[in-house]
Amino acid sequence: MGRISIRDIHNMKCRGKKISAVTAYDYTSAQIVDAAGVPLVLVGDSLGMVTLGYEDTIPVTMEEMLHHSRAVVKGTNKALVILDLPFLSYQINTGEALQNAGRALQEGGVQAVKVEGGQSIVSTVKRIVEIGIPVMGHIGLMPQSVHALGGYRVRGQGKEEALELVHDALALQEAGVFAVVLELVPTPLSQLITKRLDIPTIGIGAGPYCDGQVQVFHDILGLYTDFLPKHTRRYSEGFKVFKSALETFTEDINSNSFPSEDEGFSMDESVIQEIEDILA
Ligand code: KIV
Repeated sequence: MGRISIRDIHNMKCRGKKISAVTAYDYTSAQIVDAAGVPLVLVGDSLGMVTLGYEDTIPVTMEEMLHHSRAVVKGTNKALVILDLPFLSYQINTGEALQNAGRALQEGGVQAVKVEGGQSIVSTVKRIVEIGIPVMGHIGLMPQSVHALGGYRVRGQGKEEALELVHDALALQEAGVFAVVLELVPTPLSQLITKRLDIPTIGIGAGPYCDGQVQVFHDILGLYTDFLPKHTRRYSEGFKVFKSALETFTEDINSNSFPSEDEGFSMDESVIQEIEDILA
């Protein structure tokens, strides 16, 4: 069986089957997500924070996204892999956006790209879709615009902003996106948008009525502890589990219980004796 396609994702919405999506940034985490049967894997620019230690997603470059995407693609067989186009890789002009979306497929090996923005970027989205690259939209809180939006805040609680988000979602659908991420959007508004769209909505901090949910690998596994978003549920205490394992590893070395004889390799006694004799 090949990879999940955007057609399969569309059919999931039609059948009322919920869509799960998780980020991955390297070969091993991608293998775990793929083995768990998650159909959508996002190489999110959140990698800037959780794997590179940046303060936000703004410094992330196209080269970094390609580097991580190649590893994620190698680690997956079934999932549809999406590369998050980073800040300034698609906003300057359509030509650059097409080039970078193309690089995502050609050099990163992914099957789709994600862009942040609504009505203001539909002409760019349309062109990317026209050249045969599946695009996922992303509206609501858009981390690449965090300074313009006045911080990481819920969007669409007031009438004007709510209406703008509805129009953004409809415009993206019209432009041809195969799904749209709704980030930090109030539950009743994401429910309304989900009902009005034919394409799937994928929520993060947008309540239970979206067609799917996306979360950051390090957040749900408890690996990233700098900050826990309100919308995240921890399914594992990864940081604590790994820390404790590494403490035991260090104790075992200090007490000479690691490695054991069985964890090493043998050689003929006579060879070592000969070496001893030569060196004597
Ligand atoms: O970068 C990211 O991880 C994201 C999502 C969580 C939607 O954009």
